[in-house]
Amino acid sequence: MKPSTELIDGHYDPKHARNAVKMPLYLSSNYVFSSAEEAKKLFEQKGVQPADQDHAAPQDMIYSRLGHPNLLLAEARLAAYEGTESALFFESGMAAISTLFMGVLSPGDTVLHSTPLYGGSDHLLRGMMHAWGIRLMEFSPAEPIEQIRSRMLAAEITPSIRLIYIETPANPNLQIVDFKQVTELSHQIQQLTGIKPITACDNTVLGPVFQKPVLHGIDVGVYSASKFIGGHSDLIAGALVCSREWANKLRGVRSQLGSTASPHTSWLLTRSMETLELRMEAAQRNAVQLVDFLKNHPQVGQLYYPGLLPPDHPHHHQASGSGSLMSFELKGGRSAAFQFLDALRLVRHAVSLGGTESMACHSATTTHSNVPAGIRQLYGISEGLIRLSVGIEHVDDLRADLAQALVHAASATD
Ligand SMILES: Cc1ncc(COP(=O)(O)O)c(C=O)c1O
Repeated sequence: MKPSTELIDGHYDPKHARNAVKMPLYLSSNYVFSSAEEAKKLFEQKGVQPADQDHAAPQDMIYSRLGHPNLLLAEARLAAYEGTESALFFESGMAAISTLFMGVLSPGDTVLHSTPLYGGSDHLLRGMMHAWGIRLMEFSPAEPIEQIRSRMLAAEITPSIRLIYIETPANPNLQIVDFKQVTELSHQIQQLTGIKPITACDNTVLGPVFQKPVLHGIDVGVYSASKFIGGHSDLIAGALVCSREWANKLRGVRSQLGSTASPHTSWLLTRSMETLELRMEAAQRNAVQLVDFLKNHPQVGQLYYPGLLPPDHPHHHQASGSGSLMSFELKGGRSAAFQFLDALRLVRHAVSLGGTESMACHSATTTHSNVPAGIRQLYGISEGLIRLSVGIEHVDDLRADLAQALVHAASATD
């Protein structure tokens, strides 16, 4: 089956659920064993998906924190679409990210990470992970690999680098990290130390429809599934996509931390993924038209959208589209940005992205308010920056709403 068909028909046999066309919601905290011998066997292989076993095998349930039918179906379909051996769903994007960090890092290890990261990921690394003895070294997406390498060697941290964590395109200013550069860096560190750092990419903004990092050599793809994968602003979830080997390890960590996606969340995700491709493509068509409108608007300064990058930029080699998230600077700084947001009538002033409805926010005072002001400035998250997530409404209505709100923004600069 093609990946888009997998999202609708894959891994589910109605015979296993009284011929229900859709897998029903399994609201059961635990499952009855067929024999004591079977219970013993299940506990021996707890959380491990053997190489020859289908993700969504209907048997093998123990307890819903470890796994349940709705979770396995959602995971099997995401993995099939993503082209990875495995996928894991979590109760939030931050649960996926924190499970990854706790699963691969120990005190004394270093994380090499790109900037900017989503505010919550940045806060987790700088705050709790740092307090637990994790060291950090950051690099900007534009920094050449030779320079990162020499900084890394000068800081004498190379043997402790266990994770290279990137976000691309980065939230909120859509900076692109080159996958080739990251896999090359990981390879060079392995040559120097004998240990290959794990590479992971937060792929929330473009994936899985327009970008599949694991197919480009990245070890783990990371999602806030609250965004495009959920797609209707009605759930909070996260996901990791990776090899079976990594999934077996991270599934064990997830079971211990208890961050497993619930039956209800998993059921909603399965429902949502059926239209994932349609939604992301429709939103992208709208975004392209709104970029055209905004790029020459007198109130708009710098406009960030990956589709505007030159044709030889790595973005065009590693992604098949530019998606529907953009950000732009309003001339007139914070007061213009606030006037703009307060004047919106159709576009929701809200902090999420990837829903069917368009949403805009002021990153500096909301999603990235935990990032220290000086560092925000360094990352280019300015006081006039608006992040816009374009939905699938009629583009004429969206353009009209932006146009009238920009008139209000203009009055702030007068
Ligand atoms: C790029 C990115 N990664 C991770 C997260 C965290 O995900 P969640 O809010 O589902 O925990 C977000 C949330 O906004 C995000 O935008």
